[in-house]
Order: sequence, then structure tokens, then C-alpha cells
Amino acid sequence: MEFYPDILIFDNGKKVESVEDWKKRRKELIKILAENEYGFSPDAPEAVEAEINKDNDSCCSGHARIEHITLSFDTPKGKFSFPFKLFVPTAREKSPLILLINFRPDAYDKYCPSEEIIDNGFALASFCYMDVTSDDGDFTNGLSGMFDRDERIGWGKISMWAWAASRVIDYLSTRPEIDAENISIAGHSRLGKTALWCAAQDERVKFALVNGSGCGGAAYERVKHEGAETVKAIVEKFPFWFCGKYADYIDRADEMPFDQHFAIAACAPRYVCVGDADKDKWADQYSSQLSCIAASPAWKVLGKEGLIAPENPAKTGDCFGEGNVQYHLRDGVHYFGRTDWNYYMQFIKAKM
Ligand code: GCU
Repeated sequence: MEFYPDILIFDNGKKVESVEDWKKRRKELIKILAENEYGFSPDAPEAVEAEINKDNDSCCSGHARIEHITLSFDTPKGKFSFPFKLFVPTAREKSPLILLINFRPDAYDKYCPSEEIIDNGFALASFCYMDVTSDDGDFTNGLSGMFDRDERIGWGKISMWAWAASRVIDYLSTRPEIDAENISIAGHSRLGKTALWCAAQDERVKFALVNGSGCGGAAYERVKHEGAETVKAIVEKFPFWFCGKYADYIDRADEMPFDQHFAIAACAPRYVCVGDADKDKWADQYSSQLSCIAASPAWKVLGKEGLIAPENPAKTGDCFGEGNVQYHLRDGVHYFGRTDWNYYMQFIKAKM
């Protein structure tokens, strides 16, 4: 199958042939996605500050301690803060980190098997996306209220949540207990889209764990399957997740100067895991697998492998994780489940 646009052809028509070319093309991919889909984000603040509010010395069978941290930084309209949680394993001096962008602020959550994650050897951080800014069209609250925004190409809410995740990384990569060379970012559904966009832009993220992300996430938009979400559906219901310009592509996916394989490719040569559930047609599972295939030439040009899998649709229970891109399809519905987590943690441990 041929995929458009070609990730290895610059806008000026030249071909990507070297590692140096790829570094430039990667920036171009990110710019095209920002301008047409997610919106441009501001630069990172000069510094972030952290206040550790509460310490619980023993959790997860005594294998970790938990810190409640408030992160603060300067913005054009004053200081902004949001909270997150950090589980620090006590058995080791340094641990690889998984940062989960979550729907709820709870340390123990149905989408976050904290104890299993700790017992697999990871440190775990999570924040609630609504503590950053609300999940609606109000651009006056939280982080969204701290910056002026261009409605056409300025950041939508997905960009804001992704940017906030990068601020957590600003801080956590300075902590001696965190192995800053092995940082993963995880999210489900709208927050799977967010995790992917964060990893695409932020090279400190080594592993992107993109669960049930669908339209505006991993799913290749030019090929749609029965029951799958489209640009039209997502923009009608959630216009605020994106920049205004994304609405231009309603019913015009073929004219998009990008597709979702750009976001996966922008992570190369790092690692991306995409996971779906077999009953989750809305997330268009096979189109997500197709994006992984379409993005893989980015790894090839760098002398690595992207997704190693057949081109036909994955069957329930398949997990293709030999290359730098993994795709899995588990049984069940739209959810961030234990099975998904196990596929992701196995992959990271094998590639770390
Ligand atoms: C809706 C939306 C999806 C999104 C999902 C979620 O179903 O259409 O694009 O992924 O919500 O975030 O739960």
C-alpha cells in the first residue's frame, strides 16, 4: 500500500537520504502537524519549580514512596501551577520512568495499575489533564488562560496537555532517582493522542505508549473503516482539542498536507507502542496499524526497523514488537487495561 504524504520527501520535493536529512524532515513534520492539526505551542519556560507537598513513605507493598508535587513556572500572565503524583521505587537508586497523562488525579486508578508498574521496575508519575486545563471550549481557565491564543493555528487542548507533560519531564529529568535516558509517556484515548503528540515533539521521551488513540492519534485518516471516527465527527464534537485550521479538512482528508503517520514518524529513531482493543471500532484499529506501517520508513532510513508485521489486519492477541514500533490488538473494549500495560512494559524492558 502507498501512504500519503511521503514522510521521506521534503516539502521542496527533495528526498531524505541521511540521518542529517531526517533531523530536518522531522522538524518539518512537527511544524506541519502543529500548523494544521494540533496548533503551535509556546516555548518552554526558562525554569520549573517543584514543591513536594506530602510524602507517604510506604505504598505498593512497601516497594515505593509516593510524593504529591506541585509544579510551577512563569507564563506571560503570571505564575501557573498544577499538581502531579510521583511513585519512587525504594529498592533502587535510579529507575526508568513512566509518565501517565490520566483522566483522574488518583494515584491508584482503573487505568493505572500502580503497584504492577512499580514491581516491573519503573518509577511512575501521573497527572490529571483537567488540572492543566478543562476539556472543553473554554480557553480562559488553567494553562489556557495564561497565554493569548491564535484561534486558527494556536494550540488546542491536546497541545496544552502535551506541553504540560513536557514540563513534568523538565522537572523529573533532574531527579536523581529517575533514569532520564529511559522516559516513557503513556495515555489512553484523547490522552493517547496527547501522549503521541508530546513524544513526537519532545526528544527526551524514549517510549511513547499510545493506547486506543484513534482519530487525531495513531489512526491513518485517509483509510477509514466501518464505524470509525472521522475528522468531521471529531471536529464537530471536540473542536477545542485542535487548532481552528483542522476543521478545513472535514470531508477533505485527501487534501491534508499530513496524516497521522507523521506523528509516529516524528518519534524516530525512538520507540512507539500503539495498542488497540478488538471491539473498539471507533478508534479504527487497522488504520492505526497502517500508520505504524506508513511511519516505518523513517526508521529504515536511520538503519533501524519500525513495525515488523504483516500488512493484513492484526488478529486479536497479536503483538508485533520486534522493531522500534510495536502494535498490539487485545480483546475487549475501549479501555486502558492490564493487558495493554503488560505489552508496553514488556516492550520497554526488552528495548531499554
Ligand atoms: C470520544 C472521541 C475520541 C476519543 C474518546 C476518548 O470517543 O470521539 O476521539 O479518543 O472520546 O478520549 O475517550
